[in-house]
Amino acid sequence: MVTVLYPGTFDPITNGHTDIIVRATKLFKRVIVAIAANPGKSPVFSLEQRVRLAQTILGDLTQVEVVQFSELLSKFARSMEAKVIIRGLRAVSDFDYEFQLAGMNRRLAPELETVFLTPAEQYTFLSSSVVREVAALGGDVSAFVHPVVKTALSERFSKNI
Ligand code: COA
Repeated sequence: MVTVLYPGTFDPITNGHTDIIVRATKLFKRVIVAIAANPGKSPVFSLEQRVRLAQTILGDLTQVEVVQFSELLSKFARSMEAKVIIRGLRAVSDFDYEFQLAGMNRRLAPELETVFLTPAEQYTFLSSSVVREVAALGGDVSAFVHPVVKTALSERFSKNI
């Protein structure tokens, strides 16, 4: 049984991420969504909030587990006995960064393979920062995130007013 890891900051999880996760469940028996602490990105949601949102949204997918991590991805993948890392490729512009990430991870853990999946066309322009910006400025994010994320964004940004 191949265990795969889908790592990211998920600040917050979007419908684009969920689309990739559902695609991964069709290919692999066990999909671990690994939420990185990533303090360098100064996330808007705490690590605990990001994990809770993902767990709520993905709760019906029995093959999916949500975990958090704060160490090197290659080390964490080894500790979870994951052989594959899933990353989403939305556009050519993602490629340089993803190629670098995959190369470094291969150098650090040669047994790890990175597999790229592409999201449905309607999510190719989506990113967590675009969703945060639209929500912060009062735009409607219903088409891009699960209702629980929409509520969390409204609560988070109402504190700024
Ligand atoms: N749908 C919507 N958005 C998507 C997406 C999809 N299918 N796929 C990627 N994105 C967006 C994310 O929302 C994010 O947007 P943002 O920058 O606006 O927040 C962006 O694309 C890419 O971010 P994400 O997928 O969250 O990954 P990341 O680049 O924030 O984090 C890690 C990458 C966590 C895998 C990397 O930082 C890591 O491995 N960290 C651990 C430490 C480590 O090992 N470092 C060395 C790595 S070689």
